[in-house]
Amino acid sequence: MFTLPQKDLSAPTTCLGPTCMQDLGSSHGDDLEGECSRKLDQKLPELLGVGDPAILSSDTSYLSSRGRMIKWFWDSAEEGYRTYHMDEYDEDKNPSLSQSDMQRVEPSLLQYADWRGHLFLREEVAKFLSFYCKSPAPLRPENVVVLNGGASLFSALATVLCEAREAFLIPTPYYGAITQHVCLYGNVRLAYVYLDSEVTGLDTRPFQLTVEKLETALREAHSEGVKVKGLILINPQNPLGDIYSPEELQEYLVFAKRHKLHVIVDEVYMLSVFEESVGYRSVLSLESSVLRLFPRCALCRLPDPQRTHVMWATSKDFGMSGLRFGTLYTENQDVATAVASLCRYHGLSGLVQYQMAQLLRDRDWINQVYLPENHARLKAAHTYVSEELRALGIPFLSRGAGFFIWVDLRKYLPKGTFEEEMLLWRRFLDNKVLLSFGKAFECKEPGWFRFVFSDQAHRLCLGMQRVRQVLAGKSQVAEDPPPSQSQEPSDQRR
Ligand SMILES: Cc1ncc(COP(=O)(O)O)c(C=O)c1O
Repeated sequence: MFTLPQKDLSAPTTCLGPTCMQDLGSSHGDDLEGECSRKLDQKLPELLGVGDPAILSSDTSYLSSRGRMIKWFWDSAEEGYRTYHMDEYDEDKNPSLSQSDMQRVEPSLLQYADWRGHLFLREEVAKFLSFYCKSPAPLRPENVVVLNGGASLFSALATVLCEAREAFLIPTPYYGAITQHVCLYGNVRLAYVYLDSEVTGLDTRPFQLTVEKLETALREAHSEGVKVKGLILINPQNPLGDIYSPEELQEYLVFAKRHKLHVIVDEVYMLSVFEESVGYRSVLSLESSVLRLFPRCALCRLPDPQRTHVMWATSKDFGMSGLRFGTLYTENQDVATAVASLCRYHGLSGLVQYQMAQLLRDRDWINQVYLPENHARLKAAHTYVSEELRALGIPFLSRGAGFFIWVDLRKYLPKGTFEEEMLLWRRFLDNKVLLSFGKAFECKEPGWFRFVFSDQAHRLCLGMQRVRQVLAGKSQVAEDPPPSQSQEPSDQRR
């Protein structure tokens, strides 16, 4: 169906890009401190929080307070991508989706259809998820709603599950855009379950989520008068690259049931687990052997199936973030119908639905060609960046899933503040490396950064070279390298 690029993404052992070592004559520490004291009086826009009065008093009279908040999200979050796109390092565009079987235009595809999605697509999605999520019983098309991406799904679920100003619990660090997704239309908030890197008490790994921490965060939210309606779990996790074991998932679901909380399980990275040994399990695979406390019946596999809602999208696992395809799986027909009603605004064109069905049913290609190759490339790229970080003596976390490594740059922040974290991020950006800083994920410890490694070898190599220069305090970048001979498509995944 889709053709894979011919070039191999094997991890380079040496870096061939041009080097530029223009020394600015200062150590990173001194520099950061200097910049910090110069700028301490300016409140960085990214450090404001939702509801900060400074946002609502911003200087446009054309917008409502809701509009000003919506605009603020854009202003504060998009700088990195704007800068990147203005001066993008690019190869040839992806020639996929050009095969004739993807281009059919049936008259019925041009008509209004069921807002949940055409039945032919929902049937394919149900089969696809049954297979890849390893569900003990076949999943059903009537529980499927398709729409334009995971972001819309968060927005729709927040709007139909919560009243304005109610909240979802979410463990931090988390994929920070969810703040906007639940807030911009639904005016729904997030109540943070702060995790930290120290392994203490019963924890066995950094940033571990436990029921005890969930209970504490829930109590705190209640004591602040915040009504919590649900819990958001991302599995595999973004930005930690972590996965929850079936036993952990079970505990979180039982916690949610105890408090009558909805659970949104975001599995958009479920096929991007490139280390077999981590043993990823979808929530849809859980059955009574794991959930021994609950009776075995087709619809009652989960502690609270009516409040468990699973999402998946093609943006990550198929690297097709521009196609805008996402899907909800829920046994709750009220929720499915309410989300479908919002699909008037978030639905997919019939043509895209047809293409998606063609992709999802091509199981041979997905299993024999696409996934093995994709996992091999992710693994090679991950190995390369991990080795580079090890060589630099930089600690990091990563468990073999997703596209990122969670990197501990705390030793480069002399005072350990978020202002320094932002300055370091800006220095990377000035040197044409777009990383994500920990504050954007509501990490409570300044100094953590997310490195995305799902890119081509020579670009990673150049990126790591620039990272080394920034960290060594030599932050001027050389001319871009000559255009590559590679015919690989540019990678759109974040
Ligand atoms: C964990 C997670 N969920 C959802 C999304 C949104 O996906 P989409 O591009 O399909 O809206 C992302 C995108 O980065 C993500 O990382």
